Amino acid sequence: TARPVVFSGMQPSGDSLHLGNYLGALVNWVALQDDHDPIYCVVDLHAITVPQDPAVLHEATRRTAAQYLAAGVDPERATLFVQSHVLAHTELAWVLGTLTGFGEASRMTQFKDKSARYGAEATTVGLFTYPVLMASDILLYGTQLVPVGDDQRQHLELTRDLAARFNSRFGETFVVPEALIPKESARIYDLQEPNTKMSKSASSPNGLVNLMDDPKVIAKKIKSAVTDNEREVRYDPQAKPGIANLLDIYATVTGRTIPELEAEYDGRGYGDLKKDLAEVVVDRVAPIRARTLELMEDPAELDRLLAMGAEKAAERADRTLATVYERVGF
Ligand code: ADP
Ligand code: NA
Repeated sequence: TARPVVFSGMQPSGDSLHLGNYLGALVNWVALQDDHDPIYCVVDLHAITVPQDPAVLHEATRRTAAQYLAAGVDPERATLFVQSHVLAHTELAWVLGTLTGFGEASRMTQFKDKSARYGAEATTVGLFTYPVLMASDILLYGTQLVPVGDDQRQHLELTRDLAARFNSRFGETFVVPEALIPKESARIYDLQEPNTKMSKSASSPNGLVNLMDDPKVIAKKIKSAVTDNEREVRYDPQAKPGIANLLDIYATVTGRTIPELEAEYDGRGYGDLKKDLAEVVVDRVAPIRARTLELMEDPAELDRLLAMGAEKAAERADRTLATVYERVGF
């Protein structure tokens, strides 16, 4: 039997991917390769829905792809490509846009949030139709499962609605995808503001560990993580969010359990916990950084891998698009 198709993507951004992206998404992507048919995309078409500097975007797209590979995405078992390299994404998005209600799209809360954040000038039709493009990304590949965080749940619902609507209007064409909630989906918080999700838009650069940070910087950031005035290493996300976050990171990186870690640091100070955590995080991140740099310094090899991925993706996407075009009467 065919392995279930999984689709996921991240936007390239001026900054490197961070530890939250890695532990919350990439680690899971890598695990899925064993028994799924994964499609992993660098979604540069999505990135231009907010203002971008072309040179920065170009570099970020390549670096993001390199980071997927460095984190363990296997270009043989997964289909790894850059969204703009596969033309069917924008073509299907057009068709899906004609099935999307204006009011329906207007209810997307991420659009409202981003529109408020970037202002009226930057509130474009592209930003508005972003979820339609995302539906296209997913539906082109017969995707069954989509790993989604809370912020994308509403967009996945729209995707499901569009798939079902197309099917009922034009005949069974699309698989209606489901959300994939990973068993151990780590949610990593800002090291300086442990009630806020670690994010590239962190208010302090010390709040997030970038995958491209050098080991000394990582150690420094972890050692200066905000904790609390107690001395007890105890897992209590409500009362002790800083320590809980450090324990979560520790557990996710090492595969050890929280109770095991609590026992190990029982009666020892936060300093010991941070020192050891810095070590395990550096051990994990340093090879990813090294491999990313290697790929960035060998543009021909990265180009080769991305061309191979785009070709594999286009073959599948074009087949879906041909069916869609035929069904709508083109
Ligand atoms: P950011 O929040 O930095 O803008 P994105 O929203 O682009 O990151 O998320 C890209 C992927 O990384 C998504 O799959 C998202 O769920 C995951 N992710 C981002 N931040 C975290 C985090 N702090 N903890 C766990 N997963 C995260
Ligand atoms: Na985000």
